[in-house]
Amino acid sequence: SVMREFLHELPKCEHHVHLEGTLEPDLLYPLALRNNVTLPNQFPKTVEELEKRYVMFRDLQDFLDFYYIGCEVLLQEEDFFDLAWAYFKRAHAQGLRHAEVFFDPQSHTPRGVAIETVVAGFKRACQKALDELQVTSKLIMCLLRHLPVEECKATLESSRVLFETQQLHGLGLDSAEQPFPPELFTECYELARQFHPDVKLTAHAGEEGSAKYVSNALDLLQVTRIDHGVRSVEDPELVARLARDKTMLTICPLSSLKLQVVKDISDLPLTQLLEAGVPFSINSDDPAYFGGYILDNYVAVQKKFNWDAATWAKVARQAIEGSWCDGKRKDELL
Ligand code: HPA
Ligand code: ZN
Repeated sequence: SVMREFLHELPKCEHHVHLEGTLEPDLLYPLALRNNVTLPNQFPKTVEELEKRYVMFRDLQDFLDFYYIGCEVLLQEEDFFDLAWAYFKRAHAQGLRHAEVFFDPQSHTPRGVAIETVVAGFKRACQKALDELQVTSKLIMCLLRHLPVEECKATLESSRVLFETQQLHGLGLDSAEQPFPPELFTECYELARQFHPDVKLTAHAGEEGSAKYVSNALDLLQVTRIDHGVRSVEDPELVARLARDKTMLTICPLSSLKLQVVKDISDLPLTQLLEAGVPFSINSDDPAYFGGYILDNYVAVQKKFNWDAATWAKVARQAIEGSWCDGKRKDELL
């Protein structure tokens, strides 16, 4: 359609995509075979079964139970390369220009996979995306907040050199939001700031958790970006603060729909955020599970919000300005 073509041409940046969440069934089952991994009994046996199960999730935890099982097929450097390269190809085909991608080392290290193996595979895919697709990217390591803080600290320590050498650009926080509030991770975020003065900080907050999770992430973790953050609008002072500080929310429309954070995409507070001057970007989160990549999310928003070209230009511009790439790259994208 004309609208899809218009949205395709916008210079799109993605700031909220979990590489493990880009594991499509057409890679998951072949990797299980290649690595001799037996999936648990309750896991769908065929692509058809799996697609039926993924239509809707009860909540975040219902989804995470599948997501962590999916991770079990990832073992070799080549697997991580294949995963990330498949994502870059699909997202590039939807008009992606720049991506800041999450990964969860703690969803791999219990199987004996070294963080260096994970990062080596991802880095190789990032380089190929740059060389062949002109897509730029940054890697953001996330901590799993449902795990003991001491384990998270140890994971971070074992990634010190990767941060010092800026192979990793940012730290994030994901997995089950409640009852694992941001303040549990204050020391982890302090440690990351010590690794390198340019380390960028973000955290999932205000997806299922309250606006207090968002303000505590800002106050105690000193994040400069909030992942999801849709429940921020429950606190008018917080909204004013996000606008004043130009703190970007990385919103994931199809994710929030499929995890039943909202009943309908039109329930996302996008109009309110635009009017309040809070910047946000539109992202895919876990596209293999939620049924769409970045352009699909743009299209889903347009179907409900029917924005004019000027509003879309503003949304695309805010996503560029909120990116963690250098000024030169931002100028190219604008
Ligand atoms: N929220 C929290 N943790 C996650 C998500 C999410 O949307 N996706 C992958 N891990
Ligand atoms: Zn997420």
